[in-house]
Amino acid sequence: MVPTPEQFDVVIIGGGPGGYASALYGANAGLRIAVVERDRVGGTCLHRGCIPAKEFLETASMFRGVAAAKEYGVIADQPALDFAVSQARKQKVVDNLWKGLQGLMRARKITTVIGTGTLTPDHVVRVDDGTELRGDKVILAAGSVPRTIPGFEFDGDLVMSSDDVLALERLPASAVVIGAGAIGCEFASLLADLGTHVTLLEAMPRMLMGCDADVAQVVARSFAKRGIDVRAGVAVHGHTPSASGTTVSFGDGESVAAEAVIVCVGRRPRSEGLLQAGTGVTLDGRGFVPVDPWCRTAADGVYAVGDVISTEHFQPHPQLAHVGFAEGIVVIKDILGEAAVPVDYGRVPWCIYCQPEVAFAGMSEEQAAQAGIPVVTKKLPYSHNGRAQILGETEGVVKIIAKQLPSGKAGQILGVHMAGPWVTEQLGQGYMAVNWEATPDEIGQFIQPHPSLSEQFGEAVLALTGRGLHA
Ligand code: NAI
Repeated sequence: MVPTPEQFDVVIIGGGPGGYASALYGANAGLRIAVVERDRVGGTCLHRGCIPAKEFLETASMFRGVAAAKEYGVIADQPALDFAVSQARKQKVVDNLWKGLQGLMRARKITTVIGTGTLTPDHVVRVDDGTELRGDKVILAAGSVPRTIPGFEFDGDLVMSSDDVLALERLPASAVVIGAGAIGCEFASLLADLGTHVTLLEAMPRMLMGCDADVAQVVARSFAKRGIDVRAGVAVHGHTPSASGTTVSFGDGESVAAEAVIVCVGRRPRSEGLLQAGTGVTLDGRGFVPVDPWCRTAADGVYAVGDVISTEHFQPHPQLAHVGFAEGIVVIKDILGEAAVPVDYGRVPWCIYCQPEVAFAGMSEEQAAQAGIPVVTKKLPYSHNGRAQILGETEGVVKIIAKQLPSGKAGQILGVHMAGPWVTEQLGQGYMAVNWEATPDEIGQFIQPHPSLSEQFGEAVLALTGRGLHA
């Protein structure tokens, strides 16, 4: 006799940020939930992405701090790197968070099945060990994997993906990083700070094309100062391995030799084998799962969240852990029959943790121009800020973009863009201003602590009212 699949309110395929957020939020609402995870709950973000990368960026920050200590009269030896210790510390942080997440899931009585799940018709998820689970609803949260370009197949040694870099036992003396998006810039920054000679190759005309140009320029200037050779607007042709590494050819007959190549040209969905025929869920031409604003797929009762989705109403879909969290909440509310507010993809918070950090929400100046919206902007450099001078981190800018009123004055705040010290922790006010569609007059009422880095945002807002204090 064929056993009947165990029945749940919700079965989730994938235990990364999209999947575990759906599970935790749903379990808190009293739903009976099962998560099928092929590896470890926490997914790319916790094990091969955000958390380990940020931990290594903190190692780089510590290294810079010790190197600069004598400016403060603190006499310390010049820093040297014991990367085995850095790697062990990173793993400890990851393992602690992993333990915490498993504990949370257990405490909320979420069933976790380790194995690879496939959705079959009638909401039955089949795990590769033969287990079958049936969900009244199913959430696909299978995530994404690094993609590469022809001629640069990953071998984990000479040609590395972000997964490989985060597992390194020693750092290469030189590296070519292909792709100057979020991942490429974070790796270029941390490797250069820890002593690797880095060449960063980017196909688009400038690095960080998704960011406001003034913010990207701050990062470009800092990278150049720190010896990172950024070559934008170049095509990468191939590479020729040698005894000591490989030589990458690019642009107009140019080449660069390095010990390793790190490819950071985006991520593809992990949707192979996710769906058996007859589920009714569709995939787009690139393997992403199309969804509506409530993350509903083409099949009734089947949702998708996180990196695996292609949001037809907003392209590209931001592959960010916190967007996966937000989508999980939308889906659970929809399942509960509550009015869920869809994620506003054009206004999500973006944080890139390279040195200097980048954070933004809402439209860039270029996007406003493309949309034909007249704007007023204010840029305020961190070099004017007391706390930034105390920290010795004066590189950076806060830029606010507001709709221009017929009077010529600044109206609704459309975008807040920052580069500089700890801006990833400072974006909150800007994110709220953009999403509440606030005006400078409204936000200008709020008192900012002084001295603080975050008062830079308040100063820029006050300046947009027409009367600033220091600006
Ligand atoms: P990305 O799409 O952000 O950047 C890829 C870059 O590679 C682009 O600038 C693109 O023009 C360039 N590129 C593509 N093909 C190329 C070629 N043949 N030669 C040279 N350059 C080429 O992708 P990335 O950085 O791999 O990140 C993947 C996803 O993960 C993105 O959605 C990203 O936003 C997200 N992510 C976000 C982080 C953050 O916000 N801190 C950190 C890590 C990832």
